[in-house]
Amino acid sequence: MEIFSKKFLWGAAISAFQAEGAWQEDGKGSTAADLRCMENRRQSGIADTTVASDFYHRYREDIALMKACGLTSFRFSISWARLYPDNTGVLNQEGLNFYDKVVDELKANGIEPIVTLYHFDLPQWMIEEYRGFVSRKAIDAFLLYAHTCFTHFRSRVKYWLTINEEDVLANIPQFSGLKDPKESWQAYHHMNLANAQVMKLFHSLGTGGKIGPCISYCTVYPATPDPKDQLTAYEIEDIYSFSIMDVLMRGEYPCYLINRLREKGLLFETEPGDENLMKGAKPDFIGVNWYTTEVVGQYIEEKESFGNYEGPELPRRRRKEKGFAQYYQNPFTKYSNPEWNTDGVGFHLALRKLYERFHLPIIITENGLSCEQEVLTDGRVHDENRIEYLSEMVKAMAAAIRDGVEILSYNPWSFIDLVSSSQGMEKRYGLVYVNRTNENEKDLKRYPKDSYYWYQECIRRNGDI
Ligand code: BG6
Repeated sequence: MEIFSKKFLWGAAISAFQAEGAWQEDGKGSTAADLRCMENRRQSGIADTTVASDFYHRYREDIALMKACGLTSFRFSISWARLYPDNTGVLNQEGLNFYDKVVDELKANGIEPIVTLYHFDLPQWMIEEYRGFVSRKAIDAFLLYAHTCFTHFRSRVKYWLTINEEDVLANIPQFSGLKDPKESWQAYHHMNLANAQVMKLFHSLGTGGKIGPCISYCTVYPATPDPKDQLTAYEIEDIYSFSIMDVLMRGEYPCYLINRLREKGLLFETEPGDENLMKGAKPDFIGVNWYTTEVVGQYIEEKESFGNYEGPELPRRRRKEKGFAQYYQNPFTKYSNPEWNTDGVGFHLALRKLYERFHLPIIITENGLSCEQEVLTDGRVHDENRIEYLSEMVKAMAAAIRDGVEILSYNPWSFIDLVSSSQGMEKRYGLVYVNRTNENEKDLKRYPKDSYYWYQECIRRNGDI
């Protein structure tokens, strides 16, 4: 019997600022992500968003490669600043035209678009006018942009994702435009309201499509059977993954999160009606970015660990001498770099936990392995470790589906190599190699890696690998 249904979508993913380039073309405004990447380029020489992987000019060629691979879905994001480059509320038609062409090309090739509204690239004018999401007025700006997208693409785009990883966004000052953690938490609350309002708006339009949030999830194992390690691991998973999901999926701030924020003097302000608004937004599915697992235990000063968690305040994870918890490498899993393991069992467990908690279908919006210094030899990239990773993940999905978990689409990160938000082109995620380095844009030619051909066969066999 086939495990993956005939309707299962096999896809891949990218985001606008990491892949498009053309950062000032056709009226696009600049974004926090553009400026952050440029600063990174100045400081450490890594690639920025000016050209990135040039998806803006090569989308046809890339979509042809998707088709040849057998993809039936593609997750990408719209750049808010292409549509609304400034605060006048006037739509930049040329910006919209680009996404029209992308969507039409995908549909013509039988590929279902899965579109993220906001993936780390806050328009710079939002920061200048509203301090990002610190002001409630930012919510209206987001609604205007979302309304444009929903109505314009209503018959062509069925699946929408609201905001990619709100918690991560709020944690990275250059993405949020905020340095003060108190402001970041306030912005976080307003993003949650924006998320809820946008989902309500979408449902009120009756397009027949589906919408959900996009969260990151790292499965956590307790370091030992010591009850204190069990509790600490549970708390870390709750704080850094489930609290965020509970807010977005159920509209509730968990008590433990509120208590911790209050203790630290970081609790945000709310207004009457906020809770009802958040509870009233009913996502149709959950979008999940899942990569690795972690081993966590209580903080013991004399015990050697890989790093420490400081606690729930932003930024999310600080490697300080002392902390709230310690984390370790897992000797039972294989690591491709010191922080990235291949753990299919952890993925299976994650899918079970998600489904049991929310009883909603899941879209895997990101999942994959990054390689530093991946080399192109004779037009080929032999990325055996990525094949091993993806194959474990496909088997894990099959096991979860057998257990009753509903998965709609699998979208590994990423289809083409793109600008990693931390290491530019040095850290490659793609199924397709893009011929450029951090320093040299070269010819940007595409070369399908061995993993691309593996995935092609996996799709042809509908996951029966
Ligand atoms: C995800 C983001 O959290 O992590 C992606 O949604 C990002 O945009 C990915 O690329 C990997 O992180 P990095 O820092 O290697 O780009």
